[in-house]
Amino acid sequence: LDQIKQIETLFTVKPEKLISISDHFVKELDKGLSKQGGNIPMIPGWVLDYPTGEEKGDYLAIDLGGTNLRVVLVKLGGDRTFDTTQSKYSLPSSMRTGTADELFSFIADCLDKFVKEEFPEGVSSPLPLGFTFSYPASQDAINMGVLQRWTKGFDIDGVEGHDVVPMLQKFISQKNVPINVVALINDTTGTLIASMYTDSEAKLGLIFGTGVNGAYYDVVKDIPKLEGKLPADVSPDSPMAVNCEYGAFDNEHLVLPRTKYDIQIDQESPRPGQQSYEKMIAGYYLGELLRLILLDLAKDGFIFENQNLSKLQKPYVMDTSYPARIEEDPYENLSDVESLFLQLGIVTTEPERKLIRAICEIIGTRAARLSICGIAAICKKRGYKTAHCAADGSVYTKYPNFKQRAAQGLRDIFQWNTKEDPIVIVPAEDGSGAGAAIIAALTEKRLAAGL
Ligand code: BG6
Ligand code: GLC
Repeated sequence: LDQIKQIETLFTVKPEKLISISDHFVKELDKGLSKQGGNIPMIPGWVLDYPTGEEKGDYLAIDLGGTNLRVVLVKLGGDRTFDTTQSKYSLPSSMRTGTADELFSFIADCLDKFVKEEFPEGVSSPLPLGFTFSYPASQDAINMGVLQRWTKGFDIDGVEGHDVVPMLQKFISQKNVPINVVALINDTTGTLIASMYTDSEAKLGLIFGTGVNGAYYDVVKDIPKLEGKLPADVSPDSPMAVNCEYGAFDNEHLVLPRTKYDIQIDQESPRPGQQSYEKMIAGYYLGELLRLILLDLAKDGFIFENQNLSKLQKPYVMDTSYPARIEEDPYENLSDVESLFLQLGIVTTEPERKLIRAICEIIGTRAARLSICGIAAICKKRGYKTAHCAADGSVYTKYPNFKQRAAQGLRDIFQWNTKEDPIVIVPAEDGSGAGAAIIAALTEKRLAAGL
């Protein structure tokens, strides 16, 4: 039990710490918008209008960057409602580290299949497609995006530093799929816009999933690094959606309470030194964090005596579903924990299962509490006293207790004395696919207006 106390101390983030992290975060968001730039990319997303809810028509969207590759047909009703028809394709995990041609050819094949199923009679003109590409991609316009660097364990040569839109369009055209890629967006921007379409209180779009990130609307004149990049017809008062890419917060390691496990995860990742914040809290890393802690305890002889740990030695053998399922398993029997470890060839004792369960609570609590520092920072920066923060992603939707812990973290930072929390995290309306479609519609409207 001493061990659990030690781990708890290491992973506890007190209210004062949350406040100091979020205050530093505000400065880093500002730095990211400045001309010289900072750690947080703060990428202008070139969505220069707010959705009105009246956008209408049929659009395709493709969503790459979460657990699944999704193709979505979105029918915007024009009355703040939309319908979606979607297909999920699981991206073979080898593709994360394969070649660019394999990846884009696979996406084009999925699109081809989807279009043939949904439009068996063919289409009269090419379908406009919004491409949700959930990695940091620099944009000088809505229909392009140069990948800055892969995140979330992706590592495919020949894409970083290149515009991914022509890469995808090339395979689409080669396979004669009747599609034009008209907009590239981030999943957070998509989530923001989809939620604003249906909820006038929505101010932030957030992902708590494989990765962690947020988007909000700023004003063009408050984004110094846009100077010289804006077309003449864009007013300084125009809104501009910003994809923060705040998974990169604190890459300088000034405020986040990193443990030796966080440092190890970073050092053994394909991009050490990057995405420091994300690596402490995102779904892609939570199971790995658990694995490293368990191995450490085993090494010191506290658990798994005389067990064969060869399966547990394999990096990333535990995905996020492990800590999530372990936390879901009631303390009374912990039979799910028992079978999860049997799959790894490890026989556990009851005290061990309790210990593992307690570690998962500690990991999950820290992740949720740190996760909301980004929300608090954006709200502080923009002076939002009230807000709906629209969230999506597997950690938000599936990780037990995440929602309650995150809400408590916000209360710890803002110390409200109101009955209802003025800033709340709400479930996003059906993900970023709809957002990509709405952005494609806004883009067409601008083009038609000659802007
Ligand atoms: C989905 C969104 O619901 O959540 C995606 O449509 C997003 O755009 C994804 O990338 C994030 O969640 P996860 O857990 O799959 O990374
Ligand atoms: C990573 C990506 C970012 C994305 C987030 C959530 O942080 O870099 O673009 O929004 O994951 O999917």
